[in-house]
Amino acid sequence: MTDSDLILQHDVPLKHLNTMNLEAYADDFCVVKTQEDLFRASQAYKQMVQSGKRPHVFTLGEGSNTVFAAKNITSFIIKMEYKGVTTVKETAEHVFVQCNAGEMFRDVVIKFCQNNLSGLENLSAIYGTVGAAPVQNIGAYGQEVRNCIESVRVFDISTGSFEDYTNSQCQFGYRNSVFKYQNGEKIIVSVVFRLNKEFKPILTYANLANRVQSCGTQSFTPLFISDTVTKIRNEKLPDPKIMPNCGSFFKNPVVSMEEYGRLLQSYGDIPSYEDKDGVKISAGWLIEKCGLKGVKLNGVGFHDKQALVLVNYNSNDAGTLLDFVKQTVQTVSQKFGIELIMEPHIVR
Ligand code: EPU
Repeated sequence: MTDSDLILQHDVPLKHLNTMNLEAYADDFCVVKTQEDLFRASQAYKQMVQSGKRPHVFTLGEGSNTVFAAKNITSFIIKMEYKGVTTVKETAEHVFVQCNAGEMFRDVVIKFCQNNLSGLENLSAIYGTVGAAPVQNIGAYGQEVRNCIESVRVFDISTGSFEDYTNSQCQFGYRNSVFKYQNGEKIIVSVVFRLNKEFKPILTYANLANRVQSCGTQSFTPLFISDTVTKIRNEKLPDPKIMPNCGSFFKNPVVSMEEYGRLLQSYGDIPSYEDKDGVKISAGWLIEKCGLKGVKLNGVGFHDKQALVLVNYNSNDAGTLLDFVKQTVQTVSQKFGIELIMEPHIVR
């Protein structure tokens, strides 16, 4: 029996492995739970390459930011379930914790908060695994994960070797990192988070600040902020187990100051935020202004409380969903002259 026989599976159903609940089947699939599994997956991949097939490699976490765009997925799907959390270093100000990629990000955030370690509390209740968090530099309520990442360990499946990226080598940006531009052969296997011992709440996001201040207390804890963020998210964002979705379906577009000025002349109430490259505009607002909030078509549609969330009500077909997305991008472009960019990974 070879390493490939030990790990490779074929025609594996993916419907229960993506929060959009799209029906798809993986030609080649494996689950990675240990470091040995990584080497087995690497062997299996090398054998595919030797036999003349070099499939795209896609690492699947919780499938909460993934759209399977075909029934038959020809990418080699590596389902990352490698777990483990270890404190690796402590200084006067920080604790450094290594989390393996298959841990659920929301679980480790709660654990940190319970231990009074702060930095990630504003990112509570976000779907997805630890390994997925750096790829799109997840962000919410005034914080981005890059601010707490010390380093990221990557396994190159084509060579079977490990590589550590420092924070600056990750080249983080808004919903962006170097990992988005690598071919799938580099797999994130663990992340070292740098957490603060002293708690300084991040209350730059008005919605969160108002909610926290209305509670009247002055002695905030990371767990209190985490609970408050979780409540706000639960009020606005649909539970994917009930309404299948991928969170925000588009990035908030960043426009130049000139373009923002032009938009302001017609739309004085446009929600916007400062950005290092210009002005960030709310994509949810743009979609709502096009009359698409709560609109459903052929089993898919935008959520009625947050237009940035595309819900798969009852479509099995990625084609229908992507047609709806295409129409939305066109509608927004015609009305505002702004091109919306999709956030989830499209996998074929
Ligand atoms: N808005 C509308 N209509 C809508 C949705 C939003 O007018 O249907 C307006 C709101 O009134 C507000 C502004 O847009 O003035 C911003 O809305 P919100 O606070 O809900 O945040 P967002 O910009 O829509 C971003 C992230 C979310 C994150 C929230 C909170 C992106 C692409 N999305 O959404 O991230 O939770 O901020 O920080 O940056 C995700 O990535 O999956 C995600 C949920």
